[in-house]
Amino acid sequence: MDPLRTIAEDGAAVLVLDQTRLPADEAHVRLGTLAEAAHAIRSMQVRGAPLIGATAAYGVALALAEGRSLEESLAVLAATRPTAVNLHWALERMRRALSGLPEGGLTTAAWREARAIAAEDAAANAAIGRHGLALLDRPRDGRRPLQVMTHCNAGWLATVAHGTALAPIYAAKDSGLPVHVWVSETRPRNQGLLTAWELARAGITHTLVADNAAGLLMMQGRVDCVIVGADRIAANGDTANKVGTYLKALAAKAHGVPFYVAAPLSTVDFDCPAGDRIPIEERDGAELGAPPGVPVGNPAFDVTPAALIAAFVTERGIISPSHLFRAKS
Ligand code: MRU
Repeated sequence: MDPLRTIAEDGAAVLVLDQTRLPADEAHVRLGTLAEAAHAIRSMQVRGAPLIGATAAYGVALALAEGRSLEESLAVLAATRPTAVNLHWALERMRRALSGLPEGGLTTAAWREARAIAAEDAAANAAIGRHGLALLDRPRDGRRPLQVMTHCNAGWLATVAHGTALAPIYAAKDSGLPVHVWVSETRPRNQGLLTAWELARAGITHTLVADNAAGLLMMQGRVDCVIVGADRIAANGDTANKVGTYLKALAAKAHGVPFYVAAPLSTVDFDCPAGDRIPIEERDGAELGAPPGVPVGNPAFDVTPAALIAAFVTERGIISPSHLFRAKS
């Protein structure tokens, strides 16, 4: 498997990097059935909105090869995780591609469509990297590297390839722009460790900080911009991303730090008018690691209002929140 790709297949099974074992172990898991694909998404062996979408698309192909119906496979996969709209976008695309096809050609067509979804995600993210570089490559105090803050993991691990929020950072490194990344830990699942692992592999300087350090670093003028990914962007630009994103956006606004969201257009839910309509996943409280008996709540995402977002970095270029709706094709 390509070392910087998260998902591969041979027309019979799908191979993914098991992210629940990173960064300690680089292990792959083979998905051969609908149940295995659904489990991989639910248990976060695969995670990140674009990768969840691609895995779900392959899950449909696996299900049809098992002799299950299209409707059953779409329903099982749609129930895995609620917030990342790429999941529903990919399933809807599979439904459109497969509906009305003769029974005999369904499985082959499903593999073909899933492959197209995966290839398009990789291409979209590469374009995000190119467009995002223009935001980073600005005149600044030449004595120090550009200081970028990110939250969660929106690198290649969270996509088929290249990443979203990290794609411009990789592009900056490739173009010789000195860059340092503040990586927030991202409690409770610690996806910041995945980001640190990616950046270390790429030779990009970075520092892992506790989530709550972000405000101080911005107040001290040690952050030039924030770039995060997204799980669902409403038509008005309100953006759901990993819980903790909103607090970073508030701190960025308070300190005049530009706050960017990098995402492919498959993450925009044009049917969702505003952020208060985005379903927020509530995960098992055990993830917080509190002693038994402590009441816990564990919302996995939050919503950043469009007013706090300087721009979206998409495969079609830089788009301001007020112009997002025009990107609907
Ligand atoms: O719960 P996760 O790890 O799937 O959440 C991931 C995020 O919130 C990412 O920032 C988002 O999906 C963008 S990934 C390119």
